[in-house]
Amino acid sequence: TGFILDVRKTVTSTNTIAKEMAANGAKEGTVIIATHQTEGRGRMGRTFYSPASTGIYMSLILRPKLSLEDSLLITTGAAVAVAKAIEELTHREVQIKWVNDLFMDGKKVCGILTEASLNVENGGLEYAVVGIGINVSTKDFPDDIKEVAGSIFTDKPKDQPVTSMLAAYVLNNLAETINNLTDKSYMEDYKKRSFLLGKNINVLKGDKILKAIALDIDDRARLIVEYPDSTKEALTSGEVSIRID
Ligand code: BTN
Repeated sequence: TGFILDVRKTVTSTNTIAKEMAANGAKEGTVIIATHQTEGRGRMGRTFYSPASTGIYMSLILRPKLSLEDSLLITTGAAVAVAKAIEELTHREVQIKWVNDLFMDGKKVCGILTEASLNVENGGLEYAVVGIGINVSTKDFPDDIKEVAGSIFTDKPKDQPVTSMLAAYVLNNLAETINNLTDKSYMEDYKKRSFLLGKNINVLKGDKILKAIALDIDDRARLIVEYPDSTKEALTSGEVSIRID
């Protein structure tokens, strides 16, 4: 299956548009890609800063044969696809912060938001929308994110061809990983870029903050942590946020 590209300028949120289209029967492989979002969304109800022309904002509609439990694999698969695309283009290192954030030189340059709709009859996924936001050359971030957010290119403004090439690399890699989500062969690629593994972390769970060590990421993309009392837990990203200690 190939991609069907729906290229736009300013939109509210490509994820919102893609979800509407998916609910109305849009085909798997449909990609909404925009140059600017006025209501870009992140995980946990946060906003995703999406200024005009300095980033890539895209959402891909999938109709995967996955259970809800395995839908985390969509996010990890997309993270590997984007990380490799950036590395291929820049020859620089990209790190992944479980589960959906990409970092370069200590700054977050990409976020991924997967939103899935459940088929109530068979318990599988009706559709999933994987939204990818990449800061290509954004310079001035709002105060509340300027400590963490960064861009791939910080030195000089990037021309449109570089941005378009990156989008093409991302789609090319997505086509490959998305077809192989269940064989999990990309999980090693994910883990070797993960900068949480082996680190002391804080697990933010509701209003609790728990100290832990990040031990591993399992083949369902859950983060395995060990608490100071030696108990272990497999975390899914919906329920927690992680901070480096
Ligand atoms: C996060 O950092 O928590 C995830 C950010 C995801 C942003 C992308 S940009 C394209 C798509 N449309 C949205 O509204 N969000 C995603």
